[in-house]
Amino acid sequence: MSTIILGIESSCDDTSAAVISDGILCSNVIASQKVHEQFGGVVPELASRAHQQNILPVVSEALRQAGITCKDLDAIAFTRGPGLLGSLLVGTSFAKGMAIGLDIPTVDVNHLHGHVLSHFIKESEDQEVPEFPFICLLVSGGNSQIILVRSPFDMEMLGTTIDDAAGEAFDKCAKVMGLPYPGGPHIDRIAAEGDPNSFKFAKPHIPGLDYSFSGLKTSFLYTVRDNIKANPDFIEERKSDLAASLQKTIIDILIDKLAIAVKETKVNAVAIGGGVSANSGVRNAVEDFCKRRRIKAWIPKRSFTTDNAAMVAIAGYYKYLKGEFCSLDKPPYSKVEV
Ligand code: KG4
Repeated sequence: MSTIILGIESSCDDTSAAVISDGILCSNVIASQKVHEQFGGVVPELASRAHQQNILPVVSEALRQAGITCKDLDAIAFTRGPGLLGSLLVGTSFAKGMAIGLDIPTVDVNHLHGHVLSHFIKESEDQEVPEFPFICLLVSGGNSQIILVRSPFDMEMLGTTIDDAAGEAFDKCAKVMGLPYPGGPHIDRIAAEGDPNSFKFAKPHIPGLDYSFSGLKTSFLYTVRDNIKANPDFIEERKSDLAASLQKTIIDILIDKLAIAVKETKVNAVAIGGGVSANSGVRNAVEDFCKRRRIKAWIPKRSFTTDNAAMVAIAGYYKYLKGEFCSLDKPPYSKVEV
């Protein structure tokens, strides 16, 4: 008999449901919310309302694509945090209600653990997955962390951002350039045509393995402000150079700390995860970094970098096998609980 897990993700602005059978992915459905674009960022109340509208069709479609009915499920895994509380409440309540109706257990998943474990989503039996231990560089809209992963249940955060996350730096600088939200993918695209050495932006001097991106953001803003005074068309004329230089600075900051972490822990593998790991420059830089050190690089498929329920289902699958279920009285949480 197979173990079949339904995963539900609703921590921010994507409603997603996925089915995993014995660790193999059967379906992964994601409904993105377009409603936030006009506001230049995620509006929490609108996000929870959209989750309410999306969740039933998304879950039904995930079951349909997997060729199963809800009666075939062994457990429901859901993101309990961190994230937007209103959004998390929708997924959490839906998962619990469905599990009560089916008389099966629920498994709660830490969203960040989900990103790390996305490397264990198998799309075929013979797909290779990382061996423990490894370092995971987790870079998303809300987090920039270096995590030492010893097992699916043993993760140690070695460093984290003390202010903005890498994704925030991408998005906020993109906003200054008049690009739509989220700006990260637009910067990625435009940067390909620019010269990464045209502008020098500030880099932080933070001891240890922690990150900081707010100084870079301010430095970017001042560069634009000073140049625009002399030339009102500055942004339009230098868009690709600005994007390329910004992307290079973010990558340099990320790789500098990663290098220290690899040296200190002596691990022989590095994985990346989170929305920013979809960035072409970040992917190439980590691959080069690992090649030079002759260590293994784990670069996820782009569809598993941003928020998705497949990662929640696989993280839930490991907890299910260990018998770690969630009691119904456990509420969602907004802040990191590693
Ligand atoms: O992991 P994620 O979907 O959401 C969080 O849980 O935070 O990450 C979203 C972030 C946004 O900041 C977005 O701009 C960034 O990932 N992102 C990218 C790219 N694709 C998504 N940043 C740079 N280049 C990309 N290609």
